[in-house]
Amino acid sequence: MLTPDETYQLLRNVTSPVVAITSAHGEVRNGMIIDSAIRASIVPTIPRLAIIIHKFNYSHDLIFGSGAFALHLLRTDQYPLIHHLGFQSRRSVDKLATVAHRPGVTSAPVLDDCYAHFECRVVNAMDTGASTCFLGDVVAVGYGAAAAPTGEVLTAAYFRAHIPAEWRDAYLRQLREAQQRAEGPSREIRPLVWRPPGAGSREP
Ligand SMILES: Cc1cc2nc3c(=O)[nH]c(=O)nc-3n(C[C@H](O)[C@H](O)[C@H](O)COP(=O)(O)O)c2cc1C
Repeated sequence: MLTPDETYQLLRNVTSPVVAITSAHGEVRNGMIIDSAIRASIVPTIPRLAIIIHKFNYSHDLIFGSGAFALHLLRTDQYPLIHHLGFQSRRSVDKLATVAHRPGVTSAPVLDDCYAHFECRVVNAMDTGASTCFLGDVVAVGYGAAAAPTGEVLTAAYFRAHIPAEWRDAYLRQLREAQQRAEGPSREIRPLVWRPPGAGSREP
C-alpha cells in the first residue's frame, strides 16, 4: 500500500501546465496561478477547459460571481509572474495594477505577456468540497499581445525542476498550508446546479 505522500507524488504526474488565471467581478480584477487545468473537449469547434480553484482563494468568488475566466499558458521564463500572482492574494495587494493587461471579450482581463490565452465562459461547475471545478467554453483565443507564440510552454514538471532556490521553501510552505486547509472541507461536497450569473440561485 502506498503512503498518502507517495500517492500524491504519483498524482502530480496528472497535473496541467502552470498557467495564470484572470477574473473580474464588478470593479475588482485579479490574477492567480494554477496547475489544475485540463482540456475538457475533443471537438475542435467546441473548445473547452476545466479549472479547479480552491474556495479560500480570492479568485474563486470572482469566477463564481462573473461566470468567466481567462487562462494563460506561460513561457518557461515567466517565473517572476508566477511569484507575483501565485504567492500573494488579492486580499492584500492589487496584483494586476503592475501587470500589463487589457479588456477581453468576457469580464476577465487578458494578460499581454504570455505564450497564449483562452477566454472562457463558465458553462458548468462541480463542487469538490474545498474547491470548485469550473468548465469553460473557450470563446476567444490569442498569443497574448504577440502575432505568434515565442518560447516554450511552462509545464508543471519544468516548474518544479527549475523553481528558484530563494522561493522553494515559501512554495512548499504554501502548498502544505493549502493541503491542510483543504483537508476538512474536501469531504463536504454539496450539490451544485450551475446557472449563468443573474439567472438565479445555483444551489438547490
Ligand atoms: C505552481 C502553483 C500552482 C498552484 N495551483 C493552484 C490550483 O491548482 N488551484 C488553486 O486554487 N490554487 C493554486 N495555486 C495557489 C494560488 O495561485 C495562490 O493561492 C494565489 O495566491 C491565490 O490568489 P488570490 O487569493 O488572489 O486568488 C497554485 C500556486 C502555485 C505557485
